[in-house]
Amino acid sequence: MVTPEDVRPLPRFDGVPLTAYLSVLGGTGLTAYVGLTRIARFLEGEDLFVSAAAGGVGTATGRLARLLGAGRLVGSAGSAAKADRLIREVGYDAVFDYHDGPAADLLGRAAPGGIDVFVDNVGGEQLAAAVGALREFGRIVRIGTISQYNTPDAPPPRFDHADFVEKSIRMEGFLVSNYRDVQEELYEFAVPHLQSGRIALDETVVDGFEHIVDAFLGMLRGRNTGKTIVRDRTATRPSARTTAATPPRTAAHTRAATPA
Ligand SMILES: NC(=O)c1ccc[n+]([C@@H]2O[C@H](COP(=O)([O-])OP(=O)(O)OC[C@H]3O[C@@H](n4cnc5c(N)ncnc54)[C@H](OP(=O)(O)O)[C@@H]3O)[C@@H](O)[C@H]2O)c1
Repeated sequence: MVTPEDVRPLPRFDGVPLTAYLSVLGGTGLTAYVGLTRIARFLEGEDLFVSAAAGGVGTATGRLARLLGAGRLVGSAGSAAKADRLIREVGYDAVFDYHDGPAADLLGRAAPGGIDVFVDNVGGEQLAAAVGALREFGRIVRIGTISQYNTPDAPPPRFDHADFVEKSIRMEGFLVSNYRDVQEELYEFAVPHLQSGRIALDETVVDGFEHIVDAFLGMLRGRNTGKTIVRDRTATRPSARTTAATPPRTAAHTRAATPA
């Protein structure tokens, strides 16, 4: 239930579709932006690894990191098709399918020189692999632990705790709800890039509120690319300026904001 205190009016920016306020300008994008700028304190040229890179937070992290001057940008995802799309459309340099073998081997091949920052949406084996791959003064941004949501009894990841001392690694988790004050800064940073087309929207749209549970479960099972958005079919259709054609019931797509 949403209380009046929870409600805030949205600013409107020319050429920015309403769904952007749920994806890259919403809590998802804010999580990615806070993770990079406040928790990692990301520096231009640094090499980055992002787990669940094809998800809402993962695609936003990739796009924002590119614009912040990332060096090598490596991700993991659940299929070769997702990996391919992240390289072609989002700007990742290398993406591995985490089903293809031990995470440490796959990450070692994708980032042979190591990484400076790990943005972790997944936890588990990929977190352990990243500890090994991090360079001196590396940072781990703990955003989520989706690999354990359905397997709470799974053993925690095993990694060498000495690495944290010897490589001066810092690991920090956060909740985006404690960083609402960064919202305006995200608008200032991201809106011009949305308007110029340098940021495209990564969304999986599910039509019909009656499918909201399916959409949520589909997100947990990796059926989404980018932010999962459930659209009320009874609402007025978006104009042709923002939607090219009536989408199928579930449609994953990347689209540019319509320039003003
Ligand atoms: N700290 C915060 O304030 C905050 C805010 C927002 C979200 N989060 C967390 O951030 C994470 C990402 O959220 P999101 O909304 O952007 O979700 P999402 O990444 O859009 O969707 C989840 C993705 O996780 C992947 N996945 C599912 N099971 C997996 C497993 N066992 N191992 C590896 N990957 C798995 C799936 O992609 P594949 O096909 O690639 O497997 C799926 O598409 C979640 O853990 C969420 O709880 C935290």
